[in-house]
Amino acid sequence: MKRSFSLVDVLLVLAFCGHIAWTVKASSECKQALSREIRPHSVAITEFGAVGDGVTLNTKAFQNAIFYLNSFSDKGGAKLFVPAGRWLTGSFDLISHLTLWLDKDAVILGSDNPDDWPVVDPLPSYGRGVELPGGRHRSLIYGRNLTDVIITGDNGTIDGQGSVWWNWFKRKTLDYTRPHLVELMNSTGVVISNLTFLNSPFWTIHPVYCSHVIVQNVTILAPPDSPNTDGINPDSSNDVCIEDCYISTGDDLIAIKSGWDEYGISFARPSTNIIIRRLIGHNRNGSGIAIGSEMSGGVSEVYAENLYFFYSSTAITIKTARGRGGYVRNIYILNVTLVGVDTAIRFDSTFSPHPDDFYDPNALPVIERITIKDVIGNNIKVAGLLKGIEGDTFHHVCLLNIALTVTSGSPWNCSYIQGYSAMVSPETCEPLKESIYPNHSSDCYHLSNHLRSSGNQNKGSWLHSW
Ligand SMILES: *[C@@H]1O[C@H](CO)[C@@H](O)[C@H](O)[C@H]1NC(C)=O
Ligand SMILES: *[C@@H]1O[C@H](CO)[C@@H](O)[C@H](O)[C@H]1NC(C)=O
Ligand SMILES: *[C@@H]1O[C@H](CO)[C@@H](O)[C@H](O)[C@H]1NC(C)=O
Ligand SMILES: *[C@@H]1O[C@H](CO)[C@@H](O)[C@H](O)[C@H]1NC(C)=O
Ligand SMILES: *[C@@H]1O[C@H](CO)[C@@H](O)[C@H](O)[C@H]1NC(C)=O
Ligand SMILES: *[C@@H]1O[C@H](CO)[C@@H](O)[C@H](O)[C@H]1NC(C)=O
Ligand SMILES: *[C@@H]1O[C@H](CO)[C@@H](O)[C@H](O)[C@H]1NC(C)=O
Ligand SMILES: *[C@@H]1O[C@H](CO)[C@@H](O)[C@H](O)[C@H]1NC(C)=O
Ligand SMILES: *[C@@H]1O[C@H](CO)[C@@H](O)[C@H](O)[C@H]1NC(C)=O
Repeated sequence: MKRSFSLVDVLLVLAFCGHIAWTVKASSECKQALSREIRPHSVAITEFGAVGDGVTLNTKAFQNAIFYLNSFSDKGGAKLFVPAGRWLTGSFDLISHLTLWLDKDAVILGSDNPDDWPVVDPLPSYGRGVELPGGRHRSLIYGRNLTDVIITGDNGTIDGQGSVWWNWFKRKTLDYTRPHLVELMNSTGVVISNLTFLNSPFWTIHPVYCSHVIVQNVTILAPPDSPNTDGINPDSSNDVCIEDCYISTGDDLIAIKSGWDEYGISFARPSTNIIIRRLIGHNRNGSGIAIGSEMSGGVSEVYAENLYFFYSSTAITIKTARGRGGYVRNIYILNVTLVGVDTAIRFDSTFSPHPDDFYDPNALPVIERITIKDVIGNNIKVAGLLKGIEGDTFHHVCLLNIALTVTSGSPWNCSYIQGYSAMVSPETCEPLKESIYPNHSSDCYHLSNHLRSSGNQNKGSWLHSW
C-alpha cells in the first residue's frame, strides 16, 4: 500500500479549516506564546549559598534566589542559572518572567524526605488527591498564577529520585497523593524545553488550568515498572504544543485530562487545542497517547502526528467511564508507526476509580468524531479493542489507511461503536465497515475539509494515489 497522502496535503486541509482559530497547527513548530528575549538579569544559584554536592539540601537557596529575582519581574524578568553539579532540593515555587536554566551536567535532585514536599489542597476539578482522599504533595518545581515562565537549559536534568515514593505507593504507606515533578497551575506562557526529566514520583510534567504551553525537545525517563510515572499530562489546559520529545516511562507517555467525575463536570474547564508531534517513546504499562480517564471537563481539538511507539502496551487510548460526563471530540491522529505494540487502538469505557460515591452514574461521556489515519505497525497483538458504553455509543469513529501485522486471530473487537473506514488491514470490525467514501467523509473529523477544499475532481486522483 502506497502512502502518499503526506504532510503537504495535511497543510492544505488545515489551511481550509477556517472554523478553528488555531494558527500553530499549520506550522511545523510550536510558536512561542511570548517573545522571549534574553533576560536582562541573571544570577547563579551558587550566589545564594547552594552547594552542588548531592547531599546538601538547597531548598532555601532556591527560594531565596527566586525571592530576590522577583524584584526584576517588571524589568524584563530574570534568569536563575544552575551550573554543573548535583543540587538536592525540596519543592520550590517559580515566579512570573523567570527563566530557570540548567546547564549541561546540572542535575536538580528531589529530596527523599516527604517533609520537603509540602502538602497542598487538592485540585478543585478532582475534588481530592488522585490517589488518596485529601490534599497532595506539591511538585518539586511548582508555579501558580504565573505569566511567562521558562524552564530550559543545555540538556540539564531534573531527577525526582522517585523510587522512595514508588515504594511507599507499593507498600500502601502514603498519607497523601504523590507529587508531580513539575506542575504549573493557572499559568500562561509556559515553555519547558531542552532538558531531561528522570524518575518522577508520579506524573512528570503537569500543566493544569494553563494556556499557551510549549514542551519542546525534552527527554523523560522512568523505569518501565515505576507506577503512574506519566510523561506529560495537559489537564484542563488550552493551546498546548508538545513536540520533538522522547518519553519512556512506566505509564502513559502523554495523557490529556480535564478533571474527575462530578468535580470535573462542575469545574468545567476543558483541554482544547492540543498539538503533539514527533513523539517517540515506549512504555510497558500504559499508552503512547491517552485521553482520560479523567476527562469530565471535556477534551477537544487534539491534533497528533508523526508518532513512533515501540515495544509498548498500547499506542492510542481513550479511557472513560460512566459517571465521567464530559466529552472527547474532534480528535485527529495521523502518521503513526508502531513496532511491537500489544494493542494499537483502545477505547476503554470501564475505568472504575471514582473520587467518591457522589458521582452521577448517569453522567455519560460523549465520545465523537475521532479520526485515525496513516498507521503502520509490525508485530502487533490486537489492532483495536474498541468498547463504547451501552446506551452511549461512541460515534463518528473513522479509520483510514491503517496497515497492521497482527498476531491475534481476532484483530478487532468492537462494541457500542459507530463509524466508517477505508483501507484498513486487517479488515475492521462490523460497526466500522461502512466505507468513508464516497458518502461519509463529511462525517469524519478533518476529512471533510480536504474534500471541500480540493473539490470532487481532485478527490478522484487523491483516492487513486494510494
Ligand atoms: C489565576 O491567576 C490570576 C493571576 O494570574 C488570578 O487573578 C486568578 O485569580 C487565578 N485563578 C485561580 C483559580 O487561581
Ligand atoms: C492564585 O490565585 C488564587 C485566586 O486568586 C489565590 O487564591 C492564590 O492564593 C494565588 N496563589 C498564588 C501562589 O499566587
Ligand atoms: C535539543 O536539545 C539539545 C540539548 O539541549 C540541543 O543540542 C538541540 O539543539 C536541541 N534541538 C532542538 C531542535 O531544539
Ligand atoms: C540529553 O541527555 C539525556 C540523558 O542524560 C540523553 O539521553 C539525551 O539523548 C540527551 N538529549 C540530547 C538532545 O542531547
Ligand atoms: C533548544 O536548544 C537549541 C540549541 O541550543 C536552541 O536553538 C533552541 O532555541 C532551544 N529551544 C528552546 C525552545 O529553548
Ligand atoms: C499497570 O497499571 C495499572 C494502572 O495504573 C496497574 O493497576 C497495574 O498493576 C499495572 N501493571 C503492571 C504490570 O505494572
Ligand atoms: C511520519 O512520521 C515519521 C516519524 O515517525 C517521519 O519520519 C515521517 O517523515 C512522517 N511522514 C510524514 C509524511 O510526515
Ligand atoms: C471481545 O472482547 C471481550 C472482552 O472485552 C471478550 O470477552 C470477547 O471474547 C472478545 N471477542 C472476540 C471475538 O475476541
Ligand atoms: C451514496 O449516496 C448516494 C446519494 O444519496 C446513494 O445513491 C448511494 O447509494 C450512496 N452510496 C453508498 C455506497 O452508500
